[in-house]
Amino acid sequence: MDSVEVGRYWDANAPVWTRLVRMGCDVYRDHFNTPAFLEMLPEVDGRTGLDIGCGEGYNTRKVAELGARMVGIDIAPTFIKHAREVDSPEPLGIDYQVADGCSLPFALEAFDFVVAFMCLMDIPDQERVFAEVYRVLRHGGFFQFSITHPCTDTPYRRWVEDESGRRVALACGGYFHETEGEIVEWMFSQTPPELREGLPKFRVPDFHRPVSGLINPLIDVGFVLERFSEPQATDEAVRLHSDLANTRLVPHFLIIRARKPEKRSR
Ligand SMILES: C[S@@+](CC[C@H](N)C(=O)[O-])C[C@H]1O[C@@H](n2cnc3c(N)ncnc32)[C@H](O)[C@@H]1O
Repeated sequence: MDSVEVGRYWDANAPVWTRLVRMGCDVYRDHFNTPAFLEMLPEVDGRTGLDIGCGEGYNTRKVAELGARMVGIDIAPTFIKHAREVDSPEPLGIDYQVADGCSLPFALEAFDFVVAFMCLMDIPDQERVFAEVYRVLRHGGFFQFSITHPCTDTPYRRWVEDESGRRVALACGGYFHETEGEIVEWMFSQTPPELREGLPKFRVPDFHRPVSGLINPLIDVGFVLERFSEPQATDEAVRLHSDLANTRLVPHFLIIRARKPEKRSR
């Protein structure tokens, strides 16, 4: 499956996805993953950044609110349409474009930093994305991205419960099997029951890679690994959304920061 076909799946997901995330149904993003990502993000005030796979723009806006000049790209035109709608009444100056992370329509060294929130596991050719990000980053610039954790977001996974029905572990299998666009169907766990019945599930092509399959290509294009995070939900987040207690049993997300080295002086 290529990026164009992946884009068709995401464009079909976009209307319901946008509606539900704007109702607050993606608690994993809003109360867990994005706060952890922003906590790890270096200073971006006054810098020029690119957000790959920006969706309806929530995270692009969060980074722009920190003072960065942002460009957001997504392969799904419907997401870009929804992202532009939000930025127009309260302009943060974000430039949203329909584009493929595997073929970035930007000049060499155009950005101080690049971010990608939860989209690399949705892209078939991650090596191409890394090479493109490296090209559009200035020397000394950073690339920070989050993904579902490859060790626990495996092709086979099943929660294990104790006698009282409490989750105590996650059984995982198929870790080394690289999936090539298998369709995974799911819905935000916080979708109100009265809406859940009438809405189609998301259909997401999956491109699972083991950690080595993800990290070695990043190193091969020239990036230097700088920081990792395997966040756990805070007490406050768990109090608000008990589902998030699962994130303390096993890692759900992996956040990685890598840097394009400074040019060597002769
Ligand atoms: C899980 S969503 C994440 C959206 C957003 N970053 C967020 O955190 O709310 C993954 C996004 O990646 C986009 N995407 C998938 N393949 C892409 C590609 N090749 N280039 C750019 N965007 C892509 C999808 O359209 C979708 O918006």
